Amino acid sequence: MKVVLVGYMASGKSSIGRALADDLELNYVDLDSFIEKEMGMSIQQIFSNRGEIFFRKKEYETLGQILKNENDIVLSTGGGTPCYGNNMQTILDHSDTSIYLQLSIPSLVERISQEKDSRPLVQNIKDEDLPEFVGKHLFERRNFYMQAKETVICDGKAIREVVDEIKTRLL
Ligand code: S3P
Repeated sequence: MKVVLVGYMASGKSSIGRALADDLELNYVDLDSFIEKEMGMSIQQIFSNRGEIFFRKKEYETLGQILKNENDIVLSTGGGTPCYGNNMQTILDHSDTSIYLQLSIPSLVERISQEKDSRPLVQNIKDEDLPEFVGKHLFERRNFYMQAKETVICDGKAIREVVDEIKTRLL
């Protein structure tokens, strides 16, 4: 069984992915952490030392490598993963299911404002500019996320509730 989680930055892909993998007795793989380990650099260092284009290429290659070689996994992607190249198609072709963790713009803004520093795309954006940035960015990315087989609305829900809802969709 291969389950792939997609969604905007700070939508809970990693924490939900870890809990879901535990429940389903699958291995948990985090695409960003996998890349960080392989490169021996944080995502932030990769962006600042090698640039975003390099990161996107690495992300594309690593996604293909994991989905083609690993079985029995829950894979959390990065917020931009489904939106570049043919990554969303790769996800659809090589997973049993894919889930979009959907959150409203205000919820995303609230979460991102608390965890900006580790995220190169938002770390230099002032708090007062975040709602406009996230709104526009999500508008560009939403069509990719919406291609996932399932969409789970996560606003106001605890990790446990989201995990349980995902499990009912897998039945
Ligand atoms: C990105 C999201 C990040 C990480 C990189 C780029 C994006 O992952 O892959 O900073 O383009 O939205 P998270 O969604 O885990 O923050």
